[in-house]
Amino acid sequence: MNTTSPLQCKAWGQLGVHAESWRTVHLRELFANDVARSFQFVAEAPGLRYDYSRQRLGAMTLRLLSRLAEERGLADWRNALFSGRHINNTEDRAAWHTALRASDAPPEVRSTLSRMKELASRLRSEKRFTRIVNLGTGGSDLGPRLVADALADQRLDVRFAANVDPKDLERALEGADPQSTLFVVVSKTFTTQETMANAEAAKRWLGERATKQHFVAVTANTDFARSFGAEQILPMWDWVGGRFSVWSAVGLAAMCAIGPEAFQEFLDGARDIDEHFAQAPLEKNVPALMALIGVWNTNFLGEATHAVLPYSNALRLLPAYLQQLEMESNGKRVDREDRVVEYATAPVLWGAEGTVSQHSFHQLLHQGTHTVPCDFVDVSSNEVLSANARAQADALAFGTDAPSLPAYRQYPGNRPSSMLFFEELTPRNLGRLIALYEHKVFTQGVVWNINSFDQWGVELGKELARKILKGDR
Ligand code: F6P
Repeated sequence: MNTTSPLQCKAWGQLGVHAESWRTVHLRELFANDVARSFQFVAEAPGLRYDYSRQRLGAMTLRLLSRLAEERGLADWRNALFSGRHINNTEDRAAWHTALRASDAPPEVRSTLSRMKELASRLRSEKRFTRIVNLGTGGSDLGPRLVADALADQRLDVRFAANVDPKDLERALEGADPQSTLFVVVSKTFTTQETMANAEAAKRWLGERATKQHFVAVTANTDFARSFGAEQILPMWDWVGGRFSVWSAVGLAAMCAIGPEAFQEFLDGARDIDEHFAQAPLEKNVPALMALIGVWNTNFLGEATHAVLPYSNALRLLPAYLQQLEMESNGKRVDREDRVVEYATAPVLWGAEGTVSQHSFHQLLHQGTHTVPCDFVDVSSNEVLSANARAQADALAFGTDAPSLPAYRQYPGNRPSSMLFFEELTPRNLGRLIALYEHKVFTQGVVWNINSFDQWGVELGKELARKILKGDR
């Protein structure tokens, strides 16, 4: 499998030269000179349309980017991903999250999913527990929190506590009755300081009622979970990374919030995108296009950040989710051969829900000194939201051509963005949306020759905090 530097790829050099010809081209001219542009630069995947016509690129750019993906050996890497090969080289593990939603999922995946469904159905119908509190952080929190926040049907009151700051758990327990509160302790390692502190605090809060029945654990470390005293322990596997784990038992709190049928649809949506990613040719492959366009913006147009703007209150947590997915995966400075890289990797990802964001940082997007490529996510049949998303994308792309106005009234435009359209926010579409970004991240990791599946960068801070707490520093 190709682990050379992308700098050695012919297409990388060609893209560098090609980028020079884009320095002075304005999106306004591109649309004026090509009426077909808004049809040409669009791709479809199950349930969604990806419009990248407002990106600063042309047909030649796409050809070169496709060539780059081929030279990087994307097809081989993709096969390795789907077949569970140990592509996480520094930890000698697979990154097999696609197996969690595959139609031929391994037996342990199927039996765990059945146990989850049985438990969630019981909890939702019996109502012995009316408050479910997920204790976890990072990948053991952000995914189920996003899904529950987006789609909860209110049958159960599902809350989340992630911070070691006791205030977080305190808030999650506001108005709760210990008798009817169930804690789902989610930690792949079952050693994460924040989660363990919150789990111990939960025991104290339950007091004498702190029996096993009030705790379910989701972990790869069953011994620790057993000695903590959880009644039910659902497995995680070392071949699923935390930030790719919402499809596993890590999604239990989400399943409690949205119901087992909806959760199954969520899995089915991800599988739709797995199949699309595996089969669609590069020029029609939405996650691959998202990735390659990101590479173009980062490495050839020199943009250092990327904003994700879901025009949907239900998706207000999407930027936070994607921050972990993209930046913990591809925020790397060393390649697969342990060499320090000489090119940029993951941009800083940020964002917030539109239209709220319009009254905040969009000033910078339109008139600031940084150019920030944006993804507008439109999942709504609400015409006000859709109109605003489209208006923002147009304003960024075209700006104003009114030289007589004072400079502070002018909008330079030529600021790139893409639009992702879904008809509505169903569980299936949410699964599709998340899986799109997962495969985008994977593809970029292949292009940049980095391991997207480890996270050594978070360890030093944890170690120093431990030392400081022990008084060793
Ligand atoms: O500190 C980073 C991290 O390891 C993430 O990668 C992970 O999602 C999170 O902590 C939680 O880890 P665990 O599930 O082991 O508690």
